[in-house]
Amino acid sequence: MTKLETSYLGLSLKSPLIVSSSGLNSSVDKIKEYKKYGAGAVVLKSLFEEQILNEVSSLERHSDYTEAADYLKHYVTANNVQEYINHIKAVKEAVDIPVIASINCMSDSQWLSFASRIQEAGADALEVNIYYLPVDPKRKAEEYENIYNSIAEKLNKIITIPVAYKIGSHFTNPLNVIENLRFRGANGVVLFNRFFEPDIDVNAMKVVPADIFSSPSDLRYTLRWVAIASHLIPEIDISASTGVHDGEALVKMLLAGANSVQVCSAIYKNGAQHIEVMLRDLKEWMDKKGYKSIADFRGSLNMGSIADPAQYERSQFMKYFSSYE
Ligand SMILES: Cc1cc2nc3c(=O)[nH]c(=O)nc-3n(C[C@H](O)[C@H](O)[C@H](O)COP(=O)(O)O)c2cc1C
Repeated sequence: MTKLETSYLGLSLKSPLIVSSSGLNSSVDKIKEYKKYGAGAVVLKSLFEEQILNEVSSLERHSDYTEAADYLKHYVTANNVQEYINHIKAVKEAVDIPVIASINCMSDSQWLSFASRIQEAGADALEVNIYYLPVDPKRKAEEYENIYNSIAEKLNKIITIPVAYKIGSHFTNPLNVIENLRFRGANGVVLFNRFFEPDIDVNAMKVVPADIFSSPSDLRYTLRWVAIASHLIPEIDISASTGVHDGEALVKMLLAGANSVQVCSAIYKNGAQHIEVMLRDLKEWMDKKGYKSIADFRGSLNMGSIADPAQYERSQFMKYFSSYE
């Protein structure tokens, strides 16, 4: 019998497919469906530090009375958090798959106090999505990276549930960022987040949001770093994210060494049943190759397992294109 069970962040997953943090996981009924179709876990939509702070400051701007503003500030913060806490509890009651809460943050400040409430509500783990757009030409990259380190260091003292950091792909040395997070207690990393991107409408002469969904070719950047990190930093769990649209992409990420794989755009586009289709394709591939479990092949094509590890390095890129005329 082919088994899809795997482990991620010390949690037992019935399958390696996790439904990514997004509005997909805003409803308990939808999460029940994902479970029915075989999802191994869900990451709830993020509680946004930015969203909370924006609401608070807009209320402050619109109130003439300091006392009223103070009251509203606390009310809004508490209600946002309370809604989130209630959602965690409701999801935990409804399904028996791991429920990973998520916080999107840009600093090591106010939101940290929310983390213990998330743990108390019963979340099985926390995914921390850190994003700080470096728009200050005078600030060194190291200063930005230290925000990540400081968050991990503080959070490690506050909660005991496993923590994964969902990071972007634009670092000079992603491995060093991962290593620093691991050193500060991270149990896993999600490689990579896909950020909201601007585009330009040349007819309307306006800056507009780019397509929010990924395309299947977006998977390759993630694939490279999953394959490299799973070999060079094997102590940390990796959840592969971005561009996983079908069963074949799921297989590729597992071969590259991912412990789990997150799917978002493909479920938005194809519906919850797509989870079942992807897992069926994974199973069929395993049967064809004679693998009985994920552990039989996970990481077998990562950087340390192939004859020519340079295939994952940039120099190979030049070699390939030099013969392309
Ligand atoms: C509509 C939408 C909402 C999202 N909301 C969140 C969020 O709240 N928190 C988060 O960490 N990522 C969020 N993401 C990013 C996804 O979790 C995921 O990392 C990204 O879409 C790349 O995966 P994909 O290629 O499978 O879509 C969102 C993505 C979409 C399309």
